[in-house]
Amino acid sequence: MMERLTGTVALVTGASSGIGEATARTLAGDGAALAVLARRGDRLEKLAAELRADGARVLVLEADLTNRAQAAAAVERTVTELGRLDTVVNNAGLMLTGPVADAPEGEWERMLAVNVEGLLHITRAAIPHLIEAAERGPRQVADLVNISSTAGRVARAGTAVYNLTKFGVNAFSEALRQEMQPKRVRISVVEPGTVDTELASHLREEVRAATEGRIRNMEKLRPRDIADAVSYIVTRSRRVAVNEILVRAAEQTW
Ligand SMILES: NC(=O)c1ccc[n+]([C@@H]2O[C@H](COP(=O)([O-])OP(=O)(O)OC[C@H]3O[C@@H](n4cnc5c(N)ncnc54)[C@H](OP(=O)(O)O)[C@@H]3O)[C@@H](O)[C@H]2O)c1
Repeated sequence: MMERLTGTVALVTGASSGIGEATARTLAGDGAALAVLARRGDRLEKLAAELRADGARVLVLEADLTNRAQAAAAVERTVTELGRLDTVVNNAGLMLTGPVADAPEGEWERMLAVNVEGLLHITRAAIPHLIEAAERGPRQVADLVNISSTAGRVARAGTAVYNLTKFGVNAFSEALRQEMQPKRVRISVVEPGTVDTELASHLREEVRAATEGRIRNMEKLRPRDIADAVSYIVTRSRRVAVNEILVRAAEQTW
């Protein structure tokens, strides 16, 4: 049975577009106050204005989560200004794919910095607050949801370093799940298939052409489809831990 998130606070990273934006909307609809984080402050302000018009409390956090100090400060501002932190969705991510031998210098580092280090910076700062929320919060449970990928389950030629980051996210999540279980901080992964977002817009031209050629005729998932999975996880009763949800586009084979 679904529980409303009234009286709780959720932080969503990468909320300026795609899955993160849809997740912020959905969790606001579930009753949570929202902290929305990304670098594009103008996009966050627009989202915040819409959510506030619907009655939500929203804090805009314009920050680069690859910077440890900025990530930590964003988490602390959330607690200072919204009062607590019950739910974290580590969603911000970058997909710069293509064969290993062709990769331009710096691409792998940028991906590791966002998908792995950024996620770790937010997680480190958030854990004490999540433990406290589970001890004293209205729902007696807290949630950390990491947005992984089908690329976190199946490695494929052409996506090696993206696979490395997302397999890493899955492994980290499972280990952390075991550590946090006694504290009633639930750790989950959501593994989307192909979703219609801005993610592929960062690809190099030749990689984008090849990727789009492969999925052109496929009906892609919409960001809301993934937001629904996140919402399902975090609105369960404290006796239920939904630790993993894989959501492929119905026409997707990989
Ligand atoms: N789309 C798919 O097919 C798909 C499939 C599987 C998994 N995923 C995963 O889903 C997650 C969301 O991706 P999306 O598809 O929604 O793509 P998207 O529309 O490109 O969103 C990515 C988000 O990450 C934020 N971001 C990137 N670098 C950041 C940084 N240094 N600091 C703070 N925020 C940063 C971006 O905001 P700013 O640019 O404003 O900072 C943006 O809000 C990613 O983890 C991705 O790997 C997507």
